[in-house]
Amino acid sequence: MQKNVMSREDRIERIRERLDKPVVLIGMMGVGKTKIGRDLSRALNVPFVDSDDEIENAAAMTVPEIFERFGEDYFRSGEHRVMKRLIDGTPKVISTGGGAVMTEDTAEIVWGESISVWIEAGLDDILKRTMHNREKRPLLMKDNPEQILQDLITVRTPVYQKASIQVLNNFDQASDACIEDILNKLGQILEI
Ligand code: S3P
Repeated sequence: MQKNVMSREDRIERIRERLDKPVVLIGMMGVGKTKIGRDLSRALNVPFVDSDDEIENAAAMTVPEIFERFGEDYFRSGEHRVMKRLIDGTPKVISTGGGAVMTEDTAEIVWGESISVWIEAGLDDILKRTMHNREKRPLLMKDNPEQILQDLITVRTPVYQKASIQVLNNFDQASDACIEDILNKLGQILEI
């Protein structure tokens, strides 16, 4: 008897139909959240939004300017307001700044009102991806960015592990592999 296997298009269509909340990408800076978020939103045919871009638009300043002029706490409260507005019960893909879920109030809405996806990568890959534009990442504009990244990974990993879905973005592979992994896991969660 022939096995009835759903085509990729049908599977994606079913995921899209059942998706009744945002998919929120979390994980360290430099793991590829924005690129994967854009590609995933295209695959699912839903809107894409990047929370750092939204914060910059709302503040009419860049993230490094906000950190420099007002400090990290101020940035985190703006980030919380933006996340609260973006997580609105509609299907979309949101990529977040690496520290977003380290603020308890923000984490609460991410865990409760979205499907969270932790994108993981190794320290070497993260270093490669962040060092060429370090000035865009105020937390790395200090001595020994490698140690800073390692310390952030150590502190943040137990929080990132609370995500509904975990995927590895292996930079030796094309990002398509990561998108397929997310789509498969979304399909499982949505019982397709
Ligand atoms: C941060 C990550 C940045 C940005 C800010 C703080 C963090 O976003 O939100 O510099 O705390 O890890 P990316 O993860 O997109 O680099």
